[in-house]
Amino acid sequence: MEDNRTPLIIDTDPGIDDAASIFWVLASGRFDVKALTVTHGNVGLERCTINALRLLEAAGRPDIPVYQGAKAPILRPRISAEFAHGTDGMGDSEMPMPQLQPAEGHAASRIVEIAKASARPVTILAIGPITNVALAVLLEPDLKRYVDRVIFMGGAVRVPGNFTPVASFNVVADPEAAQIVYQSGIPVVQVGLDICNQFSFRPADFDALQQVDSPVTRFICQMVQFRLRQIGGVAAESVARSDSIALNDVAATSYLMNPDWFTTEMVVGDVETAGRCAGQTVLDFANRENREPNVCFASGVDSHAAIRQWSWDLCHGF
Ligand code: RIB
Ligand code: CA
Repeated sequence: MEDNRTPLIIDTDPGIDDAASIFWVLASGRFDVKALTVTHGNVGLERCTINALRLLEAAGRPDIPVYQGAKAPILRPRISAEFAHGTDGMGDSEMPMPQLQPAEGHAASRIVEIAKASARPVTILAIGPITNVALAVLLEPDLKRYVDRVIFMGGAVRVPGNFTPVASFNVVADPEAAQIVYQSGIPVVQVGLDICNQFSFRPADFDALQQVDSPVTRFICQMVQFRLRQIGGVAAESVARSDSIALNDVAATSYLMNPDWFTTEMVVGDVETAGRCAGQTVLDFANRENREPNVCFASGVDSHAAIRQWSWDLCHGF
């Protein structure tokens, strides 16, 4: 029988909100998840890999391979975001070590191989610094023939950055990589802080999950407790506001789930790599350079619909 599910690679740096996103994708049953490709990001590559394996174990999906990728950005020293995710990247949840092991091969070469082998172009959901995808483009400059789009949680256009005044973490963590991907010819769906800031998870949004006893709901509730404890805190105000918390990657995953929840604009987009604005996404809304639009910029969202669906799928999908 024909498999109508969308072939998908998730490039990730798990991460509390990465886990909340990956569980959603798996719960929905709508995607043929070819691999998790792991990058440096919220914490170091080794930790992120352990976390990816842990969450596949909790979801009962040992069949999905986990490939390790870049330990560091292409040209710069690594930055990280323990302040937002805890020292283990999972909200200091002290989860047991996974039994699963990463699969053989580097994430970048596996992205190329998987994309080429797929009967239909693959979608890449990129919810961490985008180094692995950029390396895949460098390995196969024609990757655009095999990838229909990269949905990227990155960028800050009409809102401030969350790591520098103008940049979001996933872009400033490797601006050169982001520039390579934006210039690769692969359509980029930019679901950045303009959207994430419209996603407020209130404590009540987790009530239904707390009523369901499964390894996944327990996993999420445990991690989210870390964020809920930060509410109103100054140190982590980009992830915990006065009455709600952010799960930024869930915003990008919402586009994968249902683009109809979003308002978008097709624009020419690029990434600044120099000076103190390195990591800024530069969108040419007036198309001053008269180029073919390469970025689908998400500017508005029905976040209530998305959060409702997220909760429903997680409560019923495992
Ligand atoms: O914003 C900091 C980090 O948290 C990013 O990797 C983002 O994807 C989220 O996981
Ligand atoms: Ca992430």
